[in-house]
Amino acid sequence: MTPVGDAVVVVDFGAQYSRLIARRVREAHVFSEIVPASVTAAELAERKPRGIILSGGPKSVYEGQALTLDPAVYDLGIPILGICYGAQLIALQLDGTVAHTGKGEYGRTEMSVVGSSSLFADWPVEAEVWMSHGDAITEPPPGFEVLAKSADSPVAAFGDPERRIFGVQFHPEVVHTARGSEFIARFAHEVCGCPASWTHVSIIESGVEAVRAQVGSDRVLCALSGGVDSAVAAALVHKAVGDQLTCVFVDTGLMRAGEGEQVEETFRRQFRIDLVHVKAADRFFEALAGVLDPEDKRKRIGELFIRIFEEVAVELGSGDAGPRFLVQGTLYPDVIESGTGDSASIKSHHNVGGLPDDLSFELVEPLRLLFKDEVRAVGEELGLPADIVWRHPFPGPGLAVRITGEVTRERVEIVRAADTIVIEEIRKAGLYRELWQSFAVLPATRTVGVMGDGRTYAYPIVIRAVTSDDAMTADWARLPYDLVERIASRIIGEVDGVNRVALDVTSKPPGTIEWE
Ligand code: XMP
Repeated sequence: MTPVGDAVVVVDFGAQYSRLIARRVREAHVFSEIVPASVTAAELAERKPRGIILSGGPKSVYEGQALTLDPAVYDLGIPILGICYGAQLIALQLDGTVAHTGKGEYGRTEMSVVGSSSLFADWPVEAEVWMSHGDAITEPPPGFEVLAKSADSPVAAFGDPERRIFGVQFHPEVVHTARGSEFIARFAHEVCGCPASWTHVSIIESGVEAVRAQVGSDRVLCALSGGVDSAVAAALVHKAVGDQLTCVFVDTGLMRAGEGEQVEETFRRQFRIDLVHVKAADRFFEALAGVLDPEDKRKRIGELFIRIFEEVAVELGSGDAGPRFLVQGTLYPDVIESGTGDSASIKSHHNVGGLPDDLSFELVEPLRLLFKDEVRAVGEELGLPADIVWRHPFPGPGLAVRITGEVTRERVEIVRAADTIVIEEIRKAGLYRELWQSFAVLPATRTVGVMGDGRTYAYPIVIRAVTSDDAMTADWARLPYDLVERIASRIIGEVDGVNRVALDVTSKPPGTIEWE
C-alpha cells in the first residue's frame, strides 16, 4: 500500500466497480487506493487509512469460495462503509442476517430513507438508487439502525454512528444512483474526517517531491511513446529534476503517423528537454518476424524497448555515470490490471508485467497512483499542449497490438494509413473528444472483393471506436452512419491492400478495446 496521507482504501471483493468507488472518492478530493480482500487488520493498522470501503463482489456471501474480511478490521476503530456484497459481509460478520430471499433487485430501484443518518441528509424520503443483488440483508447486526428500505431489501442501508460502520445494499458509485457521488463524498469528509486535499496541484507537488527523493542527483531516462501518459510523466519528472532528465523516443516503426515529429516539437523545442531520438524500426520488425502469438509479441517488444534504453544509457555515460533511473507512464489501472489486486490479470502490459527480469534500471513511475482523467488534468496544469493531453490513449506496443497475425512493415503501413483516416474523419465530425479511443485494426485474414473490373484478394480494416471512463469497461461508439461510410470509402479508396471495412460493435466486456 502507498503512504499517501488521509486515504480511504477500497477493499476489493472482485467487483467490476471497485475502481469506480476509488474514483468517486478521489473526485471528492480524497486519495483512495484499492487493496485486495486478503488485506489483514495489521496491514491496515500500519497503513492508517482514514476510512475503509468494502466493495461489491460477484459471489454470494454464502458461497464456499466467497472472499471474506479479516474480522479484526472491525475493531480498528476506522470508519467502514460496505457496498452491496461489502454490506452483506458486515451484516454476516457482525451477527446480522443475510437471506436468500429469492427476490433480487437489479437496476433502478425505489428506496425509502428511514432513520436520520447524516449520510442521507438532504435525501428525499423516496430516492432512486441502482441495485444489483440476489441475497438480501433481513436483519442488521445488533446495535445497528436500519437507515433505508426498498421493496425487496428490508435493510437497504444500516449503520452504527458510534462505531462509524455503515452498509448500503445499493451502489452509490454508479451514475444511476442520483446522489451516489455526494453520498461517498459525505462518507469520506464527514464520517472519516478527510480534508478535500487531493487536488491536481497537490498531486503535482507530492509527485515532484517523491521523484526528487527517489532519484537524488542521479540521472534519469524517460521513455517517450508519443502517448499522453509518458508525456505527462516526462513533464512531471522534468519539473522535479530538470536537466537530470534525458528523454528517449524510440521510433519502433509501430507509431501513429506524425508521432515522432510531435514529440520532437513538444519536448525538444517547447520544453527544451534533452531528447534522444532512436530510429529502431528495423530491429523491431526483425524481432517480430514470424511471431503470431499476441503475448509473445508484447514480450518481445517490451524486451527490445528496454535493451535499447540500456544501450542509450551506456552511450550517455560510461559505467556508473550513466542514468540509473527509468521513467514510465504506468497508470493505476495498469497496476491493478497486471494482477496486483484481486481483479483477474487480463494481459501483461509491457510497461508493468512484462519487464525482463534482468532489468538494470530502477523504475520511476510518477503516475502509478493516477487514473487517466487525473493524468490529463495534471498534464494541462504542467503546460503540455492540448493535442498531446487529449490524444486518445495509445498502447505501449503500438500498432503491433492492432494487427492480428504477423506484424510486418507492409501490414503496419496499411494499418497506420487507415488509422490516420479514421482519426481525421472523427476529428472533422467533432467527435474526437467524446470518444475514449478510435482507431483502425488489421485482422490476419484476406477476403475476396471486386474493384473496377478485377477480383481482389485483400485485407479488411475494422473500425474500432469506443466510449469509456477509464478503459476498464467500454461501449462501442454509435458513430453516425454517414461518418462510417466516409471513413470506409476513404480507406478503400486510399489505402492499398484493403478491399473491405467493418465496424466493431463489441463492448468491453466481453471484448477488449484493442484487438491484439
Ligand atoms: P484493452 O485492449 O485491454 O485495453 O481493453 C485497455 C486500455 O489499455 C491500453 N493498452 C495499453 N496501454 N501498454 C499501454 O500503455 C499496453 O501494453 C497496452 N495494451 C492496451 C488500450 O489502448 C486501452 O486504452
